[in-house]
Amino acid sequence: MPLADELRAWIGRADSRLDGLAAAPGLERIGRVLRVGDGVATVGGLPETRLDELLVFETGSFGLAIDLGEEEIGCILLGEADGIAAGTAVRGTGEVARTPVGHGLLGRVVDAVGTPLDGGPAPAAEASLPVERPAPAIVDRALVQRPLATGLLVIDAMIPLGRGQRELIVGDRGTGKTAVAVDTIINQRDTEVICIYAAIGQKSSSVNNVIDAVRRFGAFERCLFVIGGPDTAPGLQWLTPYAACSMGEYFAEQGKDVLLVIDDLTKHAAVYRQLSLLLRRPPGREAYPGDIFYIHSRLLERAAKLSPEKGGGSLTALPIAETQSGNISAYVPTNLISITDGQIYLDPRLFYEDQKPAVNVGLSVSRVGGKTQAPVLKGLAESLRLDYQQFLELEVFTRFGTMVDERTRKTIDHGRRIRAILAQPQFTPLSLGEQVALVVAVKDGILDGLPLDRVEPFRAGLAAWLSAHCPEAMRLGEADHTLSEALHRRLVEALTGLAGSLAERDG
Ligand SMILES: Nc1ncnc2c1ncn2[C@@H]1O[C@H](COP(=O)(O)OP(=O)(O)O)[C@@H](O)[C@H]1O
Ligand SMILES: [Mg+2]
Repeated sequence: MPLADELRAWIGRADSRLDGLAAAPGLERIGRVLRVGDGVATVGGLPETRLDELLVFETGSFGLAIDLGEEEIGCILLGEADGIAAGTAVRGTGEVARTPVGHGLLGRVVDAVGTPLDGGPAPAAEASLPVERPAPAIVDRALVQRPLATGLLVIDAMIPLGRGQRELIVGDRGTGKTAVAVDTIINQRDTEVICIYAAIGQKSSSVNNVIDAVRRFGAFERCLFVIGGPDTAPGLQWLTPYAACSMGEYFAEQGKDVLLVIDDLTKHAAVYRQLSLLLRRPPGREAYPGDIFYIHSRLLERAAKLSPEKGGGSLTALPIAETQSGNISAYVPTNLISITDGQIYLDPRLFYEDQKPAVNVGLSVSRVGGKTQAPVLKGLAESLRLDYQQFLELEVFTRFGTMVDERTRKTIDHGRRIRAILAQPQFTPLSLGEQVALVVAVKDGILDGLPLDRVEPFRAGLAAWLSAHCPEAMRLGEADHTLSEALHRRLVEALTGLAGSLAERDG
């Protein structure tokens, strides 16, 4: 027998002997709780514990070892601290934390370890996966190829996203961050994309609003909600995005496209800071522990477009970060900006001016999705963005009451109509056809003859009007390359008709 085989056989025998040893009663590693409080416990007497190992307390609840000292181990509690006190026995499990995964979770609301929160029975799991998993290797990835349409014109036209991308949604409290994510989920009702909404430390009322909106407007049976509310154990809140990611990876590894919204990572960072400070780990910048960048990058690195050999699925991540008074250069938001493939910046000033979604086009960028944008929209949108930026600069200038000539006034009037088509109420995603039609309407000057306050009814009536007067436009898809001259002509005709009918109703 060649030496290598012999060795392997020997190792195999040794392994099976070790298995027997581990199972033998009386040889379990037992430690004791030294201190406990606020979601963490310090344990002594378990020197072999590994990082991220699951510990079980004699009360039956679990803890996760996140800090290994020479004498003691810092662990976060994954449940209530009831019954855990100094002296409580603790056992190492040799396992990492796992979460149930599978189709049975779709249409459900659960926590990070799969406990149902919707009053239903425990979801039927097809398997369980570790919550922490290595990110797909470079060779197992493919380029982001297909668009992930949000249904929001301002994003799909100017900051397009691709399947497998990581795009940060960043902005102050109450600027519509969650709303952008929810609209994106709702827009997947006409696709095959599986949507996962992970909430960390979000108020129950906000979470309920999200679930309710998806139930009313989205494909609820293809969505999954993983909730770590502010009143759940901080350890479970901390675990929430990792568990949600594993639940998504299960589908992505079967070749499906998955969208993962993480609402939000600033709360997640705060929970981690709290746990770390309680475990007396040395604080760094803004009192966050030194590995705060690493814990977020190893999470977001798991978003990927998989290669054809790996089934070609994708996991798109839309993490959310909350800023304080627009400070995107605070520690956690800048970290996240540098980890992701771009950011959508929601501007409080725009929000208060009632420009919603309040996307600041100048400060937002998508570094990957541009290549995936539906070609028929791409051609139209390029100059739109330029015209819009130009108008914004001009508008600032004219705010000082400067006298403007006729041409400048026209440019400004036109720009206001661009801005008007970029506004959009919640829960009203636009199809590609509607988006193309709106851009054509503004670029061909059809909206210039319409009072500004008629742009909203124009958009609202668009789908029905086009279905009746230019149904080919409504059938435009990702694969269509250009608007043929004939279609363009018919579209302009139909749009002019719609504008005319709205103007008449006024008169
Ligand atoms: N496009 C929109 N049109 C109208 N209202 C909106 C729009 N986007 C957000 N809102 C409203 O603004 C409020 C704040 O939005 P939310 O998404 O909860 O903000 P954030 O997540 O940034 O704190 C909500 O009441 C929401 O309904
Ligand atoms: Mg929110």
